[in-house]
Amino acid sequence: MKRVLFAASECVPFVKTGGLADVVGSLPKYFDPKKYDVRVILPKYNCMFQQWKDMMVYQESFQMDINNKREYVGVLSCTYDGIVFYFVDNEYYFSGRTIYEGDEKWNIERFAFFSKAVLSVLPVIDFRPDILHCHDWQTALIPVYLDNFRYLGEYYRGIKTLMTIHNLKFQGIWDTKTVKQITGLPQYYFVPDKLEAYKDANLLKGGIVYADKVTTVSHSYAQEIQTPFYGEGLHGLMYARSNDLYGIVNGLDYKEFSPFLDERIHKRFTVENFRKNKVQNKLALQEEVGLDQNPKVMLIGIVSRLTDQKGFDLIECVLDELCQDALQLVVLGTGEPKYENLFRHFAWKYPGQVSASIFYNEDLSHRIYASCDAFLMPSLFEPCGLSQLMSLRYGTIPIVRETGGLKDTVEPYNEYTKMGTGFRFANYNAHEMLDTIRYAQRVFYDKKRDWNKIVERAMEQDFSWKNSAGKYEALYKGLVGS
Ligand code: ADP
Ligand code: GLC
Repeated sequence: MKRVLFAASECVPFVKTGGLADVVGSLPKYFDPKKYDVRVILPKYNCMFQQWKDMMVYQESFQMDINNKREYVGVLSCTYDGIVFYFVDNEYYFSGRTIYEGDEKWNIERFAFFSKAVLSVLPVIDFRPDILHCHDWQTALIPVYLDNFRYLGEYYRGIKTLMTIHNLKFQGIWDTKTVKQITGLPQYYFVPDKLEAYKDANLLKGGIVYADKVTTVSHSYAQEIQTPFYGEGLHGLMYARSNDLYGIVNGLDYKEFSPFLDERIHKRFTVENFRKNKVQNKLALQEEVGLDQNPKVMLIGIVSRLTDQKGFDLIECVLDELCQDALQLVVLGTGEPKYENLFRHFAWKYPGQVSASIFYNEDLSHRIYASCDAFLMPSLFEPCGLSQLMSLRYGTIPIVRETGGLKDTVEPYNEYTKMGTGFRFANYNAHEMLDTIRYAQRVFYDKKRDWNKIVERAMEQDFSWKNSAGKYEALYKGLVGS
């Protein structure tokens, strides 16, 4: 039996801002339990719902040196859905109102503490992993600290590390002097072939340099990040590590996202009866979010962080034009004020046609995935994307830009071969997007049979974790044997 510990800054159902939480919360359940004991460690944030905090049981506490201070490290644990979760407690670092807060320096302090604490708690919880599986910049110092901890003795030697990049855009960058002080790591690490990048200290770079293997969340993104456009300044390093870099596309928790089991949606449906039942969801959603009730109009959904990454400047550019068409738009998201206000404005300008829910709501997100005809995701870059997978699962046809995971998971509709599960466009260009949406409208309104066949194919896709968990297992096996 091999032991694996996932370390991350967010994880469903405890705390979530995006797809990282979905992946960290669902993937551990899909490893072969006879071969792998996979557990997860997270910070214990004060902003977690009481319901989750009530489940946690205190294990141990001790003091740890960090940032020239002694800090309290508490460890709590709970078992949920068969998986053991550990939580690192420290009020000074994790008592904020949101999980990411303040400036980059403060977040570097918080997650440097967490990363060092993850290694320090291992003997205390008596779980020495064969593999530490780190996710994104917040846990990227773990492989670096591990290198440093090897000198402390036998215990830490031989633990392997895997660094998964969910988003290369976020790296954890601050000036070297400050990061040296915060982390307590020696000067040895702050040179250009280790943590230093462009004169500053870069935590994610450290993780990529020191991890035994590196993965990212789709095959295309693994290729893209080796180029200057997508490489966020680290394309040279990604290329240098390309022999150890793997793209493994994310899966979905098919029990959580299921049109025939989902209790959050109005009317459940299957690939056999969606023609009759899916539209019931549309009518209910239109009523819920204040759109004109009309079973026939094409309803397009967006559920997203409202950031540049997701292509909202393209939408902004043609939204007025789009609203002249016979379609409705339902938006659920939070993020940059300019985009929040954009959608609020359009909901005011086109009442009954555009609806803007500018907040975070899990239940409503399920109803949008289940109820819409199409889902718009014109991302500038997309490491994987889970929203389009959720849409496919509910027969809501994705309209996407061909990048990263969107390219790997949405097959373009071809009217001649009658294949495909969605609509795609290549260039980051607002009118190319608009043309593609209009092409989708033509199929929706004029070729209903073809549209329904696309829905059928979309629903029949398999993006459960079944395949991808196997690929992670193969990587683990390569690191520590079976
Ligand atoms: P990213 O991780 O870049 O935000 P993904 O597509 O991988 O993009 O994952 C986004 C996740 O966050 C999905 O589970 C999506 O449903 C969810 N989500 C985003 N915004 C909201 C919101 N306002 N309310 C509910 N869920 C949301
Ligand atoms: C990141 C990416 C998204 C991906 C998610 C989970 O947030 O932006 O594309 O699906 O991580 O891996």
